[in-house]
Amino acid sequence: MKIFGLSGFLIDRFKELSWGYYLKNRALAISRAGWGTLLTALGTAGYYGAYVWIVLRAVNGQITLGDLTFLAGSFRQVRGSLEGILLQFSSLTQEAIYLQDLFDYFAIKPLIHSPKTVRAFPNPIREGFVFENVGFKYTNSERWALRNLSFTLQAGEKLALVGENGAGKTTLVKLLARLYDPAEGRILLDGYDLREYDLMELRRNIGVIFQDYTRFKMSAGVNIAVGDIDERTNQPRIETSAQRSLADTVIAKLAGGYDQQLGRSFGKGVELSGGEWQKVALGRAYMRDAQLIILDEPTAALDARAEYEVFQRFGKLTEGKSSVIISHRFSTVRMADRILVLENGTLLEIGSHYELLEKDGRYAELFGLQARVYQ
Ligand SMILES: Nc1ncnc2c1ncn2[C@@H]1O[C@H](COP(=O)(O)OP(=O)(O)O)[C@@H](O)[C@H]1O
Ligand SMILES: [Mg+2]
Repeated sequence: MKIFGLSGFLIDRFKELSWGYYLKNRALAISRAGWGTLLTALGTAGYYGAYVWIVLRAVNGQITLGDLTFLAGSFRQVRGSLEGILLQFSSLTQEAIYLQDLFDYFAIKPLIHSPKTVRAFPNPIREGFVFENVGFKYTNSERWALRNLSFTLQAGEKLALVGENGAGKTTLVKLLARLYDPAEGRILLDGYDLREYDLMELRRNIGVIFQDYTRFKMSAGVNIAVGDIDERTNQPRIETSAQRSLADTVIAKLAGGYDQQLGRSFGKGVELSGGEWQKVALGRAYMRDAQLIILDEPTAALDARAEYEVFQRFGKLTEGKSSVIISHRFSTVRMADRILVLENGTLLEIGSHYELLEKDGRYAELFGLQARVYQ
């Protein structure tokens, strides 16, 4: 705020918005007051009207003086209750505005669910994942985030995804985990459509650390345990995961160790740096015994040496498992068995580091660019 000198801009914006709110609120208050006055007037008129009526009847001798006293007392009580009821009504109509939001929210149905009869999930996965002409568009967007995408992620293979920001790397990962379903084509796992498997089982078998992983304002231990929340009391497992992701050195520096509250939202909470948070989040990938582990730029905030070490370990620890890594550092990418280069949502080239260098296409160009900078 200070460096960019934003206070004037933000204050003006606040004034503009709050003026709009004020106008809307005033209109609401006026209409509410109008209705309130009308209802009160009706109530008062009824009250005095009834009085006049019983007094007239008493004067005419239709009811006794005793009845009159009794009725007058009752009216006074009834009036109080009636006013109460009317007040309730007026506040009900106010709250109803918000209630509609709540019911609309509850009415939202998940678009992705398990089929009625599910296919047994392969353990181990034998063939792998096959993308067949996959296309996907986000609902609020006209653009295809992915289109005509066909490739195989073989069982036990380490695949790296490379591509510019917005190329569709994260979207591809989301389709693998069935956070979305393809709009065109299909994804097969061991020969059958992903949609034929139980959704929970699929997700249990896939461990993903997204680039915008969640920083839970909880203890360091819990922040790793969320990788497999049923194992949150399994301290040895949490500590092993922390060692594998290099989070153990971060946690060793915390006064409270694994019980240290993270984030500034609560008193005594300690804020970590971006790279330190990433090491903790990475630990989640090692918490679960997944068959496919996906790391979506989880090391972007790490220094070069830490990223190198993380991926060296990752390679060893996921031996025999399938994995997908997304990174902009070619020192990391080249460790993969094969590299898939995405551009504008389509597959540009796929192959091993050396095959792609030989091919002298986009990968070779990007690799050369980065290599030159570091020489
Ligand atoms: N939730 C979303 N809603 C609409 N469009 C999105 C959403 N997420 C990503 N996109 C768009 O889809 C394209 C691919 O995004 P993404 O897969 O995140 O790229 P990458 O991970 O390669 O940087 C981009 O054009 C992006 O703007
Ligand atoms: Mg991404």
